[in-house]
Amino acid sequence: MKKLIYGNWKMNLLEVESVALIETLAKTAWPDTIELAVFPSFTSISHACAARGANMRLHIGAQDCFWEAKGAYTGEVSPTQLREFNLTRVLIGHSERRQYLGETDEMVNRKIKAAISAGLTPVLCVGETDEDRRRGLWTEVIARQTSQGLAGLAISGTQRVVIAYEPIWAVGSGRPCDPNDAREAHALIRNTLIEMFGGTVAQQNFSVIYGGSVDADNIVSYLSEEGIDGALIGGASQKSATFLPLIEAASKQ
Ligand code: PGA
Repeated sequence: MKKLIYGNWKMNLLEVESVALIETLAKTAWPDTIELAVFPSFTSISHACAARGANMRLHIGAQDCFWEAKGAYTGEVSPTQLREFNLTRVLIGHSERRQYLGETDEMVNRKIKAAISAGLTPVLCVGETDEDRRRGLWTEVIARQTSQGLAGLAISGTQRVVIAYEPIWAVGSGRPCDPNDAREAHALIRNTLIEMFGGTVAQQNFSVIYGGSVDADNIVSYLSEEGIDGALIGGASQKSATFLPLIEAASKQ
């Protein structure tokens, strides 16, 4: 299975900066063992897609979508509108959206269903707070976010779903999760998937990746853990000076 290297650009980079970084990435070589994707702001998506030229190995995704196809939902963007740009992936339920915009597991579930119906690969983000971990609640929180986020889904055929385990205390903090703890969380997510969808679908249709202060120096420590299928990278993916060395390190893995 390919290792996923996904760059979440968050509310950073002006269009001109996104385009420049995409042009650099599109010219970069990476092996077939890596699936590279970046998630620019909505405002940059159109030009970002054009900037990759014919290099469709570089996937472009969105950072969110709404659960309805169209209608009176001011400010929202639907999965159907994302498909217009040939986008294939969408982040859903990132902890920053849960924290600042009040996204609940139920909203996340509706978005995941809508993304799948539109033919997108959703990247469901789950992860516990510092306090959850201190109080020993992290397993419960991750299992709940995974099972409620995916409740009622029928997954079959070639439909793919990515789960990103992103402990909130590790995101943007420079305090990456110990790879052993990340492996434990990944195993828990995988077991939840097996319970919900059965072993074959859990294995073939789902990837589970780690996110939280990943950089060129620590990427290999995650990719070499059993059950970690890749990484979702924020800060280090937003500059070629930090993203290219990370891709190179991952390529040697
Ligand atoms: P970070 O962000 O790599 O800056 O910690 C990860 C994310 O939020 O996806």
